[in-house]
Amino acid sequence: MKILLTGTTGQLGHTLLPLLSQHHEVIAPTRAELDLSDAVAIAAFVGDCKPDLIINPAAYTAVDKAETELALAHAINGVAPGVFAEQAKKLGIGLIHYSTDYVYDGSLRLANGDLVSYTEDAATNPLNVYGKTKLAGEQAIITSGCQYLIFRTSWVYSTFGKNFLLTMLRLANERDELRVVSDQWGAPTSADSIASTTVDIVGQLCQSNDAAQWWKAHQGIYHLTTKGRTSWCGFTEEILRQATVSGRLKKTAPIVTGIPAIDYPTPAQRPVNSCLDTTRLVHAFGISVPTWEVALATCLAPKQK
Ligand SMILES: NC(=O)c1ccc[n+]([C@@H]2O[C@H](COP(=O)([O-])OP(=O)(O)OC[C@H]3O[C@@H](n4cnc5c(N)ncnc54)[C@H](OP(=O)(O)O)[C@@H]3O)[C@@H](O)[C@H]2O)c1
Repeated sequence: MKILLTGTTGQLGHTLLPLLSQHHEVIAPTRAELDLSDAVAIAAFVGDCKPDLIINPAAYTAVDKAETELALAHAINGVAPGVFAEQAKKLGIGLIHYSTDYVYDGSLRLANGDLVSYTEDAATNPLNVYGKTKLAGEQAIITSGCQYLIFRTSWVYSTFGKNFLLTMLRLANERDELRVVSDQWGAPTSADSIASTTVDIVGQLCQSNDAAQWWKAHQGIYHLTTKGRTSWCGFTEEILRQATVSGRLKKTAPIVTGIPAIDYPTPAQRPVNSCLDTTRLVHAFGISVPTWEVALATCLAPKQK
C-alpha cells in the first residue's frame, strides 16, 4: 500500500515510520513539506500523492501553550483531520487518526466513589483547549462520511522526543527528590505499543479481500492504551525501579513524593480520571494489550538493530 504518514518527527510518527516502511511505500512529509495549519496545502498534497491510506499521528500537543494559541491548535487538531477525511472520502480510502483521553472531563466514578474506565460511548466534555480541538478533529472526521479509525490514547511516552519518561529519567540523574502529582489517574502508553497495534490493524486491512467491507465492519472510535492504571507518581516510581534495575540511572534513585495536582498548577486543567477501557479494541481486532508496566519494560529494553 501507499501510505501517507504525518508527524514523523513526533513520538508516534517516528515509531510508526520504520515499522510501516517494512511492508509499504510510506510518504512522510515533514512540516516544511506540508504544514498542517494550511488546509489548502493538505488538500493539494493528498490530491498529488493519491495514497491508499492516510495515517495522521501529527498534532498540536503543547497542552498548556494551546490555552493561548487556540487558533493554531484548532487549525492543526480541529481542521486538518477534517481535510484529510474529506480527501480520503474523495479518493475512497481510509483514514487512521489519533485522539486523546482529554476529550473527557475525568469526573467518571462509580457510585461508591471508585474510579471507573471510560468506554468510547461515554459523554465527552473536554476541560482544556487542547481537548476541545482534538474533539473537534474527531467530529470533523465523523461528519465527513469517510472510512476512519480514531484511536484515543493517553499519557504517551517513548525513548524519542519530549515526554514524561525522558523528563523523569533526566531529573532522576540530577535531583535527590522528585515531587510528582499523585491524584490524577491513567494508563501510561508507549508509542511502541500504539505503533505495533496500528501496524497489526493495517495488516488486517491489507489481508481482507474486500477493503470497503472491512472498513464498514471496523470503522469507529477505539480506546488504544495499555492495561491497568496508575498515577503520575506511581508511573515515576516504576520508571525509577526499572531504570535502576537496567542500569540507566547514574546515581541512587531519588525519593519520590506524591503531591496533589493543586500544588502543581498548570495553565491547562487536566482530568483526574484518564482511564480508558480498551475492551472494544481487543474484541474488534483480536489483539492483546500489554499492562503499562510491561510496555514500559519493553520501551526501556535495549533495541535490537
Ligand atoms: N503525547 C501524549 O501524551 C498524548 C496523549 C494522548 C493523545 N495523544 C495523541 O497521540 C498522537 C501522537 O502524539 P505524539 O506524542 O506522537 O505527538 P508529538 O510527539 O508532539 O508529535 C507531534 C507531531 O506533529 C507534528 N506537527 C505539529 N504541528 C504541525 C504542523 N503545523 N504541520 C506539520 N506537522 C506538525 C510535529 O512536527 P514538528 O516536529 O515539526 O513540530 C510532530 O511530528 C497525537 O494525535 C496526540 O494528540 C498524545
